[in-house]
Amino acid sequence: MDNCKETITEKAPLENQTLIIFGSNGDLARRKLLPAVFQLYIDRLLPQSFMVIGTGSRDCSEEQYRAEVRESLILFAKSERKHQSTFVDEFLSMIHYIQLNNREEKDFGKLKTYIDRLLQESAVPKNIIYYFSIPPFLYETVAKQLVKHSLNRETDGWKRIIVEKPFGYSYETAKELDEQLHKGFKESQIYRIDHYLGKETVQNIMVTRFANGFFEPVWNRKYIDRIEITASETLGVGKRGGYYDGAGAMRDMIQNHLLQVLAVVAMEPPVVFDSDAIRNETVKVLQALRPIEADNIAEHVIRGQYIATTVNGKLESGYRQEEGVKPDSRTETFVAMKLFIDNWRWGDVPFYIRTGKHLPEQATEVVIHLKPAPHQLFKRICAPQPTNMIILRIQPDAGVAIDFGMKIPGAGYQVQNVNMAFHYSDLTDSKIPEAYERLLLDCMTGDSTLYARTDAVNASWKFVDSILKAWQSNPDIPLYFYECNTWGPTEANNLFTDRKTKWRPPFPKFKTH
Ligand code: BG6
Repeated sequence: MDNCKETITEKAPLENQTLIIFGSNGDLARRKLLPAVFQLYIDRLLPQSFMVIGTGSRDCSEEQYRAEVRESLILFAKSERKHQSTFVDEFLSMIHYIQLNNREEKDFGKLKTYIDRLLQESAVPKNIIYYFSIPPFLYETVAKQLVKHSLNRETDGWKRIIVEKPFGYSYETAKELDEQLHKGFKESQIYRIDHYLGKETVQNIMVTRFANGFFEPVWNRKYIDRIEITASETLGVGKRGGYYDGAGAMRDMIQNHLLQVLAVVAMEPPVVFDSDAIRNETVKVLQALRPIEADNIAEHVIRGQYIATTVNGKLESGYRQEEGVKPDSRTETFVAMKLFIDNWRWGDVPFYIRTGKHLPEQATEVVIHLKPAPHQLFKRICAPQPTNMIILRIQPDAGVAIDFGMKIPGAGYQVQNVNMAFHYSDLTDSKIPEAYERLLLDCMTGDSTLYARTDAVNASWKFVDSILKAWQSNPDIPLYFYECNTWGPTEANNLFTDRKTKWRPPFPKFKTH
């Protein structure tokens, strides 16, 4: 660290600015956004003059709103400073609230007047981030209203919008949404958030690959047999059934988070480390995804849905019994798939991706399976053969591990698999920043490196669209049911039939210590 000049704090001078959150009473704002802003405040990373304006349909006084923010901080902020009431009071003095119906034109007039008044009083320039923490069907409506009231104009300060996922519902709708947003905002003003890119450990994949000399030489089809990416979650959809039933795991996790992780794992090294150069490389990966033909979908993509199960004496609801879910829903809560990247580096190397709700463990990791040594000297005395793997553990207990064979001490040449594991927490005494802290700060400085660009969003939609369409139009493609606390339908292992292997359970040695 000592010889590393640029740290997150020194990155770029932060201009005074305002963050306006549409949907500030919602779950995301309460659980993630406001605690993230609070943490930036604790870390002294906010600009000197800074304000948050929350908007929402609820009639609520500023005092009441601040009291609610305080409650959210108690529940969701990580730092113990949330219990220091004078300190929290200071933070809350930057928070404001205005009631706003996103569909009411006149409310945006009121918002404009409110902004003008507050900014005049506090002499903060009109540098504004609009955070769309609202249902996706309102993105266009709000963007249009901002334009109508000239709240997008940059003559008196920059304006940026942060748009949450899902960005569109399909390739066509994503393109349409993009066109609408571009009517009032330039690409450089649009920040499409994918919180996976804000995870320290996803960024660390780039550092692991490109700051070291010894990973990159083997990072290709010559040495790599296959790559597995898993994002498993132990919880079900909970209270989000209404949203999730129209989305499913493919739209909720794969189209964005997992394909972005895949792009970082598979990208070519950029020539320089800047937003354009990096995003130019990741988009190429997404554009090179081999489309899965309609006839092959049942074989290459396995979808599943969890059913009611008793786990440790407690009955877990099945997906169809969750609040907001249709009783005959065919929405997938699990997806496992095999895909290929058609380029020189990855030609014919299979990538396996899986994600699901109600699985036995919460873990996100990338496992690079290397090919075995070309000549197996110890074959007769060593069974099974040692496996060589690089494991990039994204969460929890983040880190990197390498698995390989070693001689068991003593007579003969018995070989056993061992591993060397590095725990990310060893690198810092302080906490690892949450994704939303990093991403908000990046947007405040105008750095879009870790935000998804329009061409990348389009490319990943294009890839998943054909699968979604096939699922919709062909009821013969099975939806497998799986019990909670299992690794999804056993059919997910059929993806490996040609390799005589199966999904690897998440790396057991990564335990917090
Ligand atoms: C969200 C999805 O984007 O990511 C959720 O909508 C999912 O369904 C979540 O649970 C997973 O994020 P994380 O950071 O907990 O892995």
